[in-house]
Amino acid sequence: MRILLIGYMGSGKSTLGRWLAKRLEYEFVDMDDLIENREGMTISDIFATKGEAEFRLIEQQVIESLTSYENAVIATGGGAPCFFNNAERLNELGITIYLKITPHVLVDRLRGATHTRPILANKSEKEIFNFISEKLTEREPFYNKAKIIADANNLENEMYITIIEGYKGAHEDR
Ligand code: S3P
Repeated sequence: MRILLIGYMGSGKSTLGRWLAKRLEYEFVDMDDLIENREGMTISDIFATKGEAEFRLIEQQVIESLTSYENAVIATGGGAPCFFNNAERLNELGITIYLKITPHVLVDRLRGATHTRPILANKSEKEIFNFISEKLTEREPFYNKAKIIADANNLENEMYITIIEGYKGAHEDR
């Protein structure tokens, strides 16, 4: 079984993903790490030297490579479900969970982390807020394709296990 965490940067995909993986005794996989290892450069450098369009193509190929991970919790990149037919593909690969979070909380979390996030680099706090709000509006239709939508502003980690168990139970063949 695979659990795929989706949502905007700063929504807690990696932090929650690591916790869930440990708890479920699954492997933790971070898609951005797979991309960096494959290309031998950081995400920032890929954006800077190859551009976003090329990054999205690489990202799509890395999504295909996720079939080689069984029993894994996978943190997907923030834009991953929003290009090509990736959202549908991620749903085929496992249980997708959208970590839904408000722009205010996201800005708080992303403050100070802009150097590792090329999309937010060189923007003031106000610009980041506006940018994130716009992006969320644009991306929500894709994020909302996830099988499970979780209020990640408030949910306790433990509650995700209950949600996943409930989802599995409801979808098991009878
Ligand atoms: C991106 C999010 C990043 C990374 C890249 C593009 C986006 O992933 O894939 O910088 O388009 O939102 P995280 O959400 O893991 O930071």
